[in-house]
Amino acid sequence: MKTKYTIEDMDRIADEIRSRISVQPEIGLILGSGLGPLSESIENPTIIPYHDLTGWPLSTVEGHAGELVIGNLEGQDVLVMNGRIHYYEGYEMSQVTLPIRVMQRLGIKTLIVTNAAGGINQDFVPGNPMLITDHLNFLGMAGANPLRGPNLDEFGTRFPDMSQAYDRELIEITRGVAKEQGLTLYEGVYVCLSGPTFETPADLRFLAGAGVDAVGMSTVPEVIVANHGGQRVLGISGITNSSNLYGEAETTHEEVIETGLILAPKMMDLIRGVLRLL
Ligand code: HPA
Repeated sequence: MKTKYTIEDMDRIADEIRSRISVQPEIGLILGSGLGPLSESIENPTIIPYHDLTGWPLSTVEGHAGELVIGNLEGQDVLVMNGRIHYYEGYEMSQVTLPIRVMQRLGIKTLIVTNAAGGINQDFVPGNPMLITDHLNFLGMAGANPLRGPNLDEFGTRFPDMSQAYDRELIEITRGVAKEQGLTLYEGVYVCLSGPTFETPADLRFLAGAGVDAVGMSTVPEVIVANHGGQRVLGISGITNSSNLYGEAETTHEEVIETGLILAPKMMDLIRGVLRLL
């Protein structure tokens, strides 16, 4: 399978999607682990399984469906990615972020990313969402930055600014929606680690000391590429488990998926509320 993509590769997939839809969505939404039920609320959906799209990387993980759902939500045309692939599956960063490039070629201007995350902040109660205000690009610091390699000038500059990777206006809007709906909405810094191992207690204490509030295995590469291509980004983590800084309990994928079911309706309310205001 290809790991380096040209604009023509991206356009070919974008054209395949375009040929099956009659709307021009400007909002993309990525659903993380356990949040698949959100895509069931899309009205007039066109469903495109990832395996129908030539060269689209396919997920291997249970709990991650693999389809695009294009339709309407709260009066907005949206393109929903139900399931994503991860670096830990063995994919290259270029593959992990290919969908973002395709969205950019499709004309998607705003990206809403969700994920399941472990709460490092000890005030976080699992089952509640966290607004991502910033991220720690741990993988990128170590070299696995999705923009490593020749710059694609068509999308953006060689050295993109990341001082506002999460759009301030979207953050404000989301805060307002949570307040109006009486939803608990934490805020904080998300870190993406490679996975697939969950963290050791020492990892978690280290991350807590570095000012991280939530930990996961996705999102950051996508957000970097989205910013590079000029998209506005809103990031929301569903806190599915609290991290055990002293090894008090185990973390399991089942727990992540189960709590995702409690989180899905809350995340949906939040996202619907935001969409109404865009
Ligand atoms: N760690 C990493 N990724 C995760 C976690 C976690 O505790 N929970 C959900 N995704």
